[in-house]
Amino acid sequence: MARPKPAAKAPKVHQAQLTHTVADFEAAFWPDESPVDNAVVMTMGALHEGHAALIRAARREVGRDGRVAVTVFVNPLQFGPSEDLDRYPRTLEADVALAQEAGADVVFAPSAEEVYPNGTPVVSLSAGPMGERFEGASRPGHFDGVLTVVAKLLHITDPDYAFFGEKDAQQLAIIQRMVADLDFDVEVVGVPTVREADGLALSSRNRYLSEGDREQALALSRALFAGRDAAARGPKAVREAAARVLDDAAGVHLDYLALIDPHDFVEAPDDFQGEAVLAVAAKVGSTRLIDNVRLQVR
Ligand code: PAJ
Repeated sequence: MARPKPAAKAPKVHQAQLTHTVADFEAAFWPDESPVDNAVVMTMGALHEGHAALIRAARREVGRDGRVAVTVFVNPLQFGPSEDLDRYPRTLEADVALAQEAGADVVFAPSAEEVYPNGTPVVSLSAGPMGERFEGASRPGHFDGVLTVVAKLLHITDPDYAFFGEKDAQQLAIIQRMVADLDFDVEVVGVPTVREADGLALSSRNRYLSEGDREQALALSRALFAGRDAAARGPKAVREAAARVLDDAAGVHLDYLALIDPHDFVEAPDDFQGEAVLAVAAKVGSTRLIDNVRLQVR
């Protein structure tokens, strides 16, 4: 008599569990004492392929038996009074589906009361001078708010790895600095920027762009690529090549274009050599966009 065939080993299907409280998150993220690697991807929701790339990178790092948490929290502390906190897109159901598809085990989507039960924290973190330049100059207090919530979410999720996008290069640099300066026991991993085929960096704010805005917004990535193409000719040539594209661009209201030393996030001097970040921020229509590329300046 033929023996019944053993059932084919089912591929592990990641069911992402949605949690809203710290207690439920902890129970879901640490169901037992098994010593597996775990990783966190922090987001403000409205997830897109850029976020998915972070979640996939996290899954690759911890392996199929490791655990990946995605946090979805629109952190009021990092929004200025005239910024888009209230109109920031909230799409939790779709976010859970995308996070699960990309390999998340648990989604942690707390309320503001859950994260800040005592209201605005009395004790908080400061990004120092690194948080006052570029993005920080346009958005006072923004990086202090980012660091405070990132520190809290690192404490809650207690991961081996935390993944952040190079899209927000200054944020990544400041978080790396916080982890080093304050001895956080986590490895921060940067993930390259995901772009549309035409170069536009994916961003939750792209949905605010009209068709015309979107066309004009392409000048940002075009300027950065032109700068990168000039990298062998030194910092001045990089700045000039990028500036030329932006000068010619209609509808782009430039905030800053800067060639930056990524370690301390200061403007690179004219004799700078090595890895640099060419960063741009501009308003297109009513939407503020940022983008950057990494380049080897000689
Ligand atoms: P958010 O803007 O939702 O971005 C979450 C993470 O996704 C960040 O690390 C960001 O750099 C990354 N990301 C966004 N667009 C990307 C793209 N096109 N390619 C690659 N990575 C991309 O950044 C924040 O939220 C918040 O400040 C947060 C860190 C969650 C703290 O509140």
